Amino acid sequence: MIKVLFVCLGNICRSPAAEGVLLHLIRERGWEDKYEVDSAGTSGHHDGERADPRMRTHAKARGIELPSISRKFLPEDFRRFDWIVVMDNSNYRNCLKLASHEEDKGKILKMADFTPSFSDDEVPDPYYGGAQGFEHVLDMVNEGCENLLKKFNG
Ligand code: 4NP
Repeated sequence: MIKVLFVCLGNICRSPAAEGVLLHLIRERGWEDKYEVDSAGTSGHHDGERADPRMRTHAKARGIELPSISRKFLPEDFRRFDWIVVMDNSNYRNCLKLASHEEDKGKILKMADFTPSFSDDEVPDPYYGGAQGFEHVLDMVNEGCENLLKKFNG
């Protein structure tokens, strides 16, 4: 079993999108038994909420459901997951602060390191922007998730 956790700030836009996209790609490949996928936010400010309706609408237009319920990222997630995939540099620093073992640090990956066709160093936060920002998140995480699957499958 390969266990993957996506992390952003609020866990209502970017990481739920990444979770939904990866689940979609896994289902297309028939790999449901090989993967466990979840998402979390470093802030915890949206605990218990479904993904932002705008993010869900843009994902649904691509045939992708976003099942996540927002929760805070916890130190014990380093024990539960093999890989922690963060959306931006602030998420990276916040997760790193909660790492207690050297091995934990090696589990943290940046989504933008798996999106070579994009010039972005981070997956930009779409929360305060317009529709194009949500589309951009989906474009980036789609490429990133395809490349992450290649990495995880060795
Ligand atoms: P996310 O986006 O980190 O991609 O879920 C955000 C959602 C909410 C807020 C910021 C970013 N907020 O400030 O409430």
